[in-house]
Amino acid sequence: MTRDDARALDAQDPLARFRDAFDLPPGMIYLDGNSLGPPPKTALAGLRDAAERQWGRDLITSWNVNGWIDAPLRVGGKIAGLLGARPHEVAVADSTSVNLFKLAAGALGLRPGRRVILSETGNFPTDLYVLEGLARTAGAELRAVHPDRLLDALNEDVAVLVLTHVHYRTARRWDMAALTAAAHAKGALVLWDLSHSAGAVAVDLNDCGADLAVGCGYKYLNGGPGAPAFLFVAERHLGAIRSPLSGWMGHAEPFAFEHGYRPSGDIRAQLCGTPGVLGLAALEASIDLQVQADPAAIEAKGQSLCDLFIAETDSRCGRFGVELATPRAARERGLHVSFAHPQGYAVVQALIARGVVGDYRSPDLMRFGFSPLYLSHAEVWDAVAILEEVLATGAWDRPEFRARAAVT
Ligand SMILES: Cc1ncc(COP(=O)(O)O)c(C=O)c1O
Repeated sequence: MTRDDARALDAQDPLARFRDAFDLPPGMIYLDGNSLGPPPKTALAGLRDAAERQWGRDLITSWNVNGWIDAPLRVGGKIAGLLGARPHEVAVADSTSVNLFKLAAGALGLRPGRRVILSETGNFPTDLYVLEGLARTAGAELRAVHPDRLLDALNEDVAVLVLTHVHYRTARRWDMAALTAAAHAKGALVLWDLSHSAGAVAVDLNDCGADLAVGCGYKYLNGGPGAPAFLFVAERHLGAIRSPLSGWMGHAEPFAFEHGYRPSGDIRAQLCGTPGVLGLAALEASIDLQVQADPAAIEAKGQSLCDLFIAETDSRCGRFGVELATPRAARERGLHVSFAHPQGYAVVQALIARGVVGDYRSPDLMRFGFSPLYLSHAEVWDAVAILEEVLATGAWDRPEFRARAAVT
């Protein structure tokens, strides 16, 4: 494909208008929105308004007059539209790690007599760490098996299957409907981590019969560093599931200041403490932008960007030893692409020095995210040209590119 071919694809891009909603640094090709999405201009304005006017001027009255107290459910309701969920099934709170703990614990409670939490060995580390801690606390067993053995390991001992829908390293995507059905056939619940799915691939939780889900607000949802996370509880579980973190925001009447805990009967029961209002303000403004785009169009454009990146990198950089570590078939992957290279870390640093920002996952993966709201096919084409130049000239082979930073 020539650069003009890539530009021709951009000329027909139904999402092209969203690019102007972001203020990306000039000259940068940002391929890391799967890790930290950039701020929409409206998110910065929303943050400023929440800080200066709401906090600075309206102060404590803001809980009512600026709707702070309703923000976790209000923003959750908006995110629901991106996930194929009903507004009252989603809330925004805490981090993904904490939400995973709450919902996995809740799932154990919904399946008394079953003590196994099933997951896969390659799951994102925080998911496994949290489940390990939960198993220890709850007297349950975490069984993490090779992904190929997952179906064999699903049996009547399993209370909940916990999987990340789109894998953080390879972008491999589980078949949500099939896995959910397989778990239900054994009487188990499923808890999906949608961190690399929300805002990227078209997810339909209720159509798949999903039980529970969590996910990050700061990746494709562009909610800002450490943005609050979301959680989903299917309507049929709302009254019964109990959070182990029975904080006052989950109480049926938080401001009655009763002595004992009485859980709210709805999604509010999954809240714990006072919401982080500034983080919610940025996230809400970003979601207000995101919901203007059709999720199917987002996925279609994202896959087109990924297809272009894979094809061009294969043909132009294959001779330098880069190897695709992501499924080739679009329906089997999310919106990031990983290529393995023995010097992957240094190559990524050399790319960053040239304005192409991707990231690296040990031991050898160069990872690139293709967020459809602000990226163009021409930028993807340019990114591959720069990658080819870095590899062909050996520009990565410098001490400053080899030296590892604390966060990689
Ligand atoms: C699949 C997945 N789950 C969870 C997290 C992180 O969760 P937290 O926001 O609690 O740090 C990440 C972060 O990259 C992730 O990729």
